[in-house]
Amino acid sequence: MNTNDIRPVINGFLARHEEQCLQERETHFGASLQRSFYIKTYGCQMNERDSESVAALLVARGYVRAGNEDSADIVLLNTCSVREVAEQKAIGKACLLLNRRGSNKVVGIMGCMAQNRGEALLETLPDLDLIVGTQQMHRIPDFLEQGESICALEEEVDSQNALAGRLDTPPSAFVSIMQGCNMGCSYCIVPKTRGRELSRPITDIVAEVQQLAQSGTKEVTLLGQIVTSYGLGSIAFQNKQSPFVQLLRAIEAIDGIKRIRFTSPHPSGFRADLIEAFGELNKLCPNVHLPLQSGSDKILKAMKRPYTVSKYRDIVDRLKTSRTGICFSTDIIVGFPGENEEDFQATLETFDAVGFDMAYLFKYSLRTGTPAEVLGDPIPEEEKERRNQVLIEKLAQRSLASHRTCVGQSVEVLVEGPAKRGNNRYWGRTPEFKKVFFDASNADLGQLLTIEIESATTTCLLGQQVSPIKQ
Ligand code: SAH
Ligand code: SF4
Ligand code: F3S
Repeated sequence: MNTNDIRPVINGFLARHEEQCLQERETHFGASLQRSFYIKTYGCQMNERDSESVAALLVARGYVRAGNEDSADIVLLNTCSVREVAEQKAIGKACLLLNRRGSNKVVGIMGCMAQNRGEALLETLPDLDLIVGTQQMHRIPDFLEQGESICALEEEVDSQNALAGRLDTPPSAFVSIMQGCNMGCSYCIVPKTRGRELSRPITDIVAEVQQLAQSGTKEVTLLGQIVTSYGLGSIAFQNKQSPFVQLLRAIEAIDGIKRIRFTSPHPSGFRADLIEAFGELNKLCPNVHLPLQSGSDKILKAMKRPYTVSKYRDIVDRLKTSRTGICFSTDIIVGFPGENEEDFQATLETFDAVGFDMAYLFKYSLRTGTPAEVLGDPIPEEEKERRNQVLIEKLAQRSLASHRTCVGQSVEVLVEGPAKRGNNRYWGRTPEFKKVFFDASNADLGQLLTIEIESATTTCLLGQQVSPIKQ
């Protein structure tokens, strides 16, 4: 339901807050009355980026970040609806927070599940203070000031430009370039939760990346549900180059940025201009996340994915020719309605043939309101789990084999942080997105180092610093 409905105060969180402030005045006269907030994020990188922007808006309004949900006056859950389990997790957390909250705590749900379920969330969570959909999140500071319980789900023109602020400038930063998706894959709830495609102007994105570069960011990951559709319909092609490729080329030219990544593209978006870009743009990392979903043409058709397996493999081959050493990751869904053993075997075959280095493997989850809803969910959970396990095993073998080829080699690593355990231990990623833990005497975040790889596991590489790379 897309109505901006301001419900009457059902639990008066402002009243509770004022009461609390009064007590604070009495007991800690003169102490700061700044309210603190904590945002817990579920779902994809776009949600992470949105949470960061909402946090920046709240800090600009005088709120302070709390270290955890228990100590925060305001807890916001930024949610995901892509699978049932993602929604259940967030609902469980909201229940817990509401059950044990003191008189002052505000609890809100924002993002995809807020958009998907709207006011129906109140049936399970009647005490919820805020329900804020994907195009209204920039209004959260206003909603908090209004102090009323609010359910805001309206679509808003220009909302794709409203969440651009940030608090931190990490060595590797997410940059949102668009929102929404027009594809309508039959299993997917995202077009419902995120709406139609809306792209930010190239100049705004370039200005944001320039600013990041000036603050020390070395790597940017351009984000969107379907980045290869960036700007279609609003930005003209130039010299047969799509708006997305124009954007990549504009970012390649920014001093200080050393690496460019993007996620998620759609296989049908890999036309000649993008494939050529991988051969020409040095900063474009040799790692493509290319969601396959299924290796069976019959299932791809039922999923409304407009490509065949042979077309997909052709794209992979052309990218391998365009850039030596390029590697691939993917998304696979097992147990889509109608997927029989033959279809599953076709997925295994394609999985082997492409040789993915990484994959996100999902069991089909029926989503109400998607085109595939009418097909039901006929494949038993145990069978989905069996297919999932077969793929997990295959992926583990493949990842280990691919990681082992790096042992004894020197690789370039962008230092992203200290490791959780160990002195003088850091972590970073290679251009191919392989995670590396390494020992170094004094590494700085954002440095590009040469690391000699000594050993490998299924999930990471381990090594020692050899030398800094000339920056
Ligand atoms: N826009 C991205 C990804 C969107 S969601 C893309 O097109 O690649 C991330 C992944 O979740 C999808 O690629 C798909 O593999 C998985 N997914 C989406 N809906 C699902 C569902 N109903 N059940 C199981 N997995 C799903
Ligand atoms: Fe969902 Fe398909 Fe759009 Fe990806 S491309 S967000 S899977 S509808
Ligand atoms: Fe989930 Fe929404 Fe992202 S449904 S995958 S959080 S766009």
